Amino acid sequence: MQDSLKESFLKDISEITSLNDLLNLKAKYIGKKGIITEKIKNLAKLSLEERKSQGKILNELKQFIEELIKNKEEELKQKEISESLKKEFIDITLPGKNFYFGGQHPVNKTLLEIIDIFREIGFTVEEGPEVELDYYNFEALNIPKNHPARDMQDTFYVSEDVVLRTHTSPVQVRVMEKKKPPLRFISPGKVYRCDSDITHTPMFHQVEGLMVDEDVSFSHLKGILVYFLRRLFGENIPVRFRPSFFPFTEPSTEIDIGCIICSGSGCRVCKGTGWLEVLGAGMVHPNVFKFAGYPEGKYTGFAFGMGVERLTMLKYGIDDIRLFFENDIRFLRQF
Ligand code: FA5
Repeated sequence: MQDSLKESFLKDISEITSLNDLLNLKAKYIGKKGIITEKIKNLAKLSLEERKSQGKILNELKQFIEELIKNKEEELKQKEISESLKKEFIDITLPGKNFYFGGQHPVNKTLLEIIDIFREIGFTVEEGPEVELDYYNFEALNIPKNHPARDMQDTFYVSEDVVLRTHTSPVQVRVMEKKKPPLRFISPGKVYRCDSDITHTPMFHQVEGLMVDEDVSFSHLKGILVYFLRRLFGENIPVRFRPSFFPFTEPSTEIDIGCIICSGSGCRVCKGTGWLEVLGAGMVHPNVFKFAGYPEGKYTGFAFGMGVERLTMLKYGIDDIRLFFENDIRFLRQF
């Protein structure tokens, strides 16, 4: 009887392939209501003699089953581990994942290029505050209160006398108040205007330039700015000067380059003209020298200002200024 039980257990365990089935098998034979457990419980009904002999046999069988189940459990666990190792194989010879470093923003790239070009020809770099007095942003630049020229720039007012600077030109007066000519500097920085469309943003960058001495003439202005544009856009870029108006320069000019996109034949970007405006400039107005405290008639000079986003758009053929400020990594990675 116990032999056939042993045989049926051996047959059962030989067919087990999972830990779950092994648990069920254990319950079937030696669990609380298992076959062997029941038999042991029933020993009480037997005579003393039989209880002794049957008890011994049953206990040995139980130990035998426990031992085999333990071995089988170990074997199944090992099998599970080696199978999962096979599945989760890590190929340490594969190349690692790329780590992308940040890069220079295209606007900063252009800005640094502009600074380098002017530094090489002897210009120093000056800075001024972004939150500026109305006095420096307008009045000292020959734009009194209620002057119609104030409408040329849409101003963010902080208070009646304080503005977010609308251009970098106030640095001209701040530097002249402190330093005597000869002066030759540029002033890069952020400026703010209440303005937003595909070519205008509320914050953008300008680079101002000022050169003042006793005999600075319009031909210096022309020579330096043509040189600068050829360095930035290439030796063969066409450059033209148009008469214009700025309250702080007289005479004033706006400078165009031949359209980079259509090479001058006329397109959407240059609005069919073949030219693109890139700089405002002119000879420093005598009133500005007066505000700076310079003696009348002693000095002459020229000033210029440019929008860095506009130059960057032209350099890289970008048609929407807002792309610079969206921080889309796919856009920025191209530079
Ligand atoms: C000025 O700001 C003058 N201060 C430049 C100047 C300096 C003239 C010294 C004479 C002597 P303007 O308003 O045109 O000029 O602006 C200069 C450039 O800034 C423009 O050509 C354009 O490229 C850029 N700009 C103007 N508004 C915006 C804007 N909202 N977003 C991006 N770029 C702008």
